[in-house]
This record gives sequence, C-alpha cells and structure tokens, in this order.
Amino acid sequence: MKRVLSGIQPSGQLTLGNYIGAMQNFVKLQETHQCFFMIVDLHAITLPQEPAALREQSEAVAALFLAAGIDPAQASVFMQSHVPEHAELGWIMTTASYMGELERMTQYKDKSAGKESIPAGLFVYPTLMAADILIYNADLVPVGDDQKQHLELTRDLAQRMNQRYDTELQVPDPYIPQTGARIMSLDDASKKMSKSNPNPASYIALLDEPDVIRKKISRATTDSGREVRYDPSEKPEISNLMAIYAHCANMQVSDVERAYEGQGYGAFKKDLAERVVEALEPLQARYHDIRQSGELHGILRKGAAEAREVASTTLRHIKDKMGFVLPQ
Ligand code: TYM
Repeated sequence: MKRVLSGIQPSGQLTLGNYIGAMQNFVKLQETHQCFFMIVDLHAITLPQEPAALREQSEAVAALFLAAGIDPAQASVFMQSHVPEHAELGWIMTTASYMGELERMTQYKDKSAGKESIPAGLFVYPTLMAADILIYNADLVPVGDDQKQHLELTRDLAQRMNQRYDTELQVPDPYIPQTGARIMSLDDASKKMSKSNPNPASYIALLDEPDVIRKKISRATTDSGREVRYDPSEKPEISNLMAIYAHCANMQVSDVERAYEGQGYGAFKKDLAERVVEALEPLQARYHDIRQSGELHGILRKGAAEAREVASTTLRHIKDKMGFVLPQ
C-alpha cells in the first residue's frame, strides 16, 4: 500500500481553504493508502504561540480531522511532538540543506517580511517539513498550492541524501486538487484565504456559526458584471466562490456554471451560503461530540505509536547509513 503523509499547523482557526485544499483529500486518500495525518505543533512554534492557545488549537485541529471524516481505524492521527523522531531528523535535514535554497522559499519571505528580527525557526521550517515527509517514506503528500515549493525542496533533499549516503528515501509527489488548491480571501481575491489574516471577514472558519457564514458570503467581494462564469484570470472573485461551491456541493465547476447560467451573483451567493452551511453543519456537530467524548487523547496515543514504529525504523536506517554509531 502506498503511503500518504500530511500535516496542518495548529496556529489559528482552520478555514475552508485548509478543508478544500487539504483535508478533503486526506479523507479521500485514507480509503486507498496507508495514511499519517498530524497536527504540526513543532511547526506552529516557529512563530510565538501563547501556551494556552497552542494547547487548545492543537486539540481543536485533532478533533476537526476526525470530524471531517478521518477514521482513526484507517489512518494514524497524531501530534507531531509525540513522535520525537521528527525533530531529530529535522536537524539532520537542516545539515543537508543550504542557506540559499532556504532563502528562496516564498513562505519564508512572506512570513519574515517587515520583521526586525527574524526567528531562526522560520528559516529552517522547511527542513523540518522535509523530515516529516521523508521519515514515513511517503509517496504522496496532499497539500494546497502554497506548499508546492516546500515539496520541491523535500524532493531535492531526498535525492541529495540518497546520493550522498546511499539511503533509500522515497522521493515524494505532491497531491494537489485541480480546483481549490488555492482558495482566496473573501475580501481580496489576490490573497489566499488564511487563518492568520487579522480580518475574520476574509475567511470562513470551519467552526463559524451558520449565520456568520451567511453574512460573510453575502459580503464577499465580486467582480464587475453579473455573469456566473469560471474564469480565474478575468473573474477571480466569482471563480473563487464557484470553486468553494463545487467543493462543498461535490460538483464540478462546469456544473456550477451551467446551473447558474443566466442568473446573477445575488442568487448564486445565496445558494452558495447554504451549500457551505450544509457542508459544515454536520462537521461541526461531530466536532462538538468528539471534544465532549473524551476519546481524543486515546486516538492520538494510538496514532503516535503507529507513527513511531515507522519513523524510528527510517531514522535508524538514515543514521546507520550516515555513520552514526547506533545503540547496540
Ligand atoms: P498550513 O497549516 O498552513 O495549511 C494546512 C494545509 O492547508 C492548505 N491550505 C490551503 N489550501 C487551499 N487554499 C487555501 N487558502 C489554503 N490555506 C492553506 C495548505 O496548503 C496545507 O496543505 N507547512 C504546512 C504544514 C506541514 C506539512 C508537513 C504539510 C508541516 N509538515 C508535512 C504536509 C506535509 C503548512 O504550513 O500548512
């Protein structure tokens, strides 16, 4: 069975962008692949986190994974920090990478822009991400478009390690949705929808109440004209809303286009709000059940044990090939 690994940072409210770009594919891939899905708490601390918020958000993301349909009987769900091999291989990957290639990472450039002192963790962030992936010898990594460059670096690092040390690391492929790989802000279609945007009207959080969702969608900016046509370069705002519609209603964008032929933005946006509410209401109900059930920590314990079995074997292989004296 081919392997899948992915992770989401517990650094704020998860949005519809995370759901469409990544989580929907997690749920799909667990049917056919051996899957590892983690809450990347070690990545979240590359920017300062308030301790109580980190703890709450980490549990919330774990519960959202399950609420979205990840089945712990099929996939391993765990906290990154519960598998200490990630941090150890992260260090090894840092030593295998070059300043120049890390300086070229657009996420690093965006997150460090305007900062007087740049946290070093932000700079080496992609080497820990490479470790996350390579430690499971993952074949596929379901992510949104913004993680493509990190995946390319991960592939380079795998090949470099294999050449330099004769390791047998799997070179992973990204798994990116055709539409919805980059869900944009509701107030500005030139920026991606992001949980770190200070304006909550710019994103739909997975735990937003139905009326909040309706309000945010009714206020979402739309292109001039009134035709509901999918054309991301000419009509980026309505195309973004159409991609959201398609993913929430389980349709193709071409079907959405056909369904709204001759109708204006108003009718489309009203229906879109209902499609999003219908998609998120059951997820929210499951989320609250899971958080109240007390089962979360047992699931995370089981997931971490499953993950550690694989991670420790790969780390041992790498260290052996590199010339570390293994404990005997
Ligand atoms: P993060 O936590 O920023 O986002 C989690 C996932 O959601 C996707 N995503 C989006 N997709 C479409 N439209 C959007 N507006 C949108 N916003 C976010 C992201 O592409 C991502 O797939 N570095 C990663 C976390 C990570 C990871 C890994 C991922 C750490 N280790 C190993 C895969 C494998 C990140 O910051 O994702």
